[in-house]
Amino acid sequence: MSSQSPVRRITVPAFRARKGGEPIVALTAYDVATARLADPHVDLLLVGDSLGMVVYGMDTTLGVTLDMMAAHGAAVVRGSRRALVVIDMPFGSYEQGPAQAFASASRLLAQTGAQAVKLEGGVAMAETIAFLVRRGIPVCAHVGLTPQAVNVLGGFRVQGRDRSGWPIIEADARAVAEAGAFAVVVEGVAEPLARRLTEIVSIPTIGIGASAQCDGQILVTEDMLGLTEHVPSFVRRFADAGSRFDGAFAAYAAAVRDRSFPALEETYAAR
Ligand code: KIV
Repeated sequence: MSSQSPVRRITVPAFRARKGGEPIVALTAYDVATARLADPHVDLLLVGDSLGMVVYGMDTTLGVTLDMMAAHGAAVVRGSRRALVVIDMPFGSYEQGPAQAFASASRLLAQTGAQAVKLEGGVAMAETIAFLVRRGIPVCAHVGLTPQAVNVLGGFRVQGRDRSGWPIIEADARAVAEAGAFAVVVEGVAEPLARRLTEIVSIPTIGIGASAQCDGQILVTEDMLGLTEHVPSFVRRFADAGSRFDGAFAAYAAAVRDRSFPALEETYAAR
C-alpha cells in the first residue's frame, strides 16, 4: 500500500449496525491484486476457504489448512485498506471445541491482521462462537448450505426447499445471533427461508444463493468475473474476464513467436 493511503477499515460494530440499512456488498479475495481492485467497492472482503477449490483445484474445501488461510489472509490484508477483512476457519480447525477454535482463530488474526473469523454451523457452534466473542474475536457465522459439511449433506444441496426443514435452519440462525456473531452468511437456501431468516435475526444476513432481501450479498469473485468454468445458477457473471485473459495470452504467445515482443522500448540499452 502506498504511504498516501491510510488504512481506515470498516469496523465490526459499524458493520453490525448495517442491519436493515443499505445493502452490504461483499466479495471473496485470496490475493493482493484482487483485494486491491475490489477494496474500493466492497464493505467486506472474505478470505474464503473456497480458495481450496478456486485457487488449488480441490473438489471440496475439506483439504484447506490453517497455513493456507494464513498466507492468503495476510495477502488480502496487505492489498486492502477500507474493507472489513474476514477470514474463514478451515475444516478441522475449530469443531473440536472452544479451546481449539480460540487457538486457531487467534493464530489467524495475529498472522494476517484480519479483523474477524468466519466459521460454519449453527446451534452446534453457538457455544464456540460465544467463547470466541467473549475473548475478543469477532465471529461471522455461516448457516444453510455449509460446504464443510458436504459429506453429511450428501452434496452441495440447496437447503430449505421443503418447509419441514425450516425450523432447524431458523434455530441455527437464532443461535449464532444470540451467541454474539456480528453477521451471518446464509448460503444456498430457498428464497422465502432466506427472507424469513433476515426478519428473525438481529444481525446482518449476507446471502449467497439466497435472497435479495438479505441484508447483503456475497459472491466468489472468480465466479462473478467469469474466471471459473462451472458456476451455480445463482451466480451472475458481471464480466467475461476468462475471454479477456484468453485473448491476452494468445496475443502474448503470438508476439513472442513472431519476435515483435519485446520491442526496442521494452528492452534495456547498454550505457
Ligand atoms: O468460502 C467461501 O468463499 C464462502 C463464501 C461462499 C460465503 O464461505
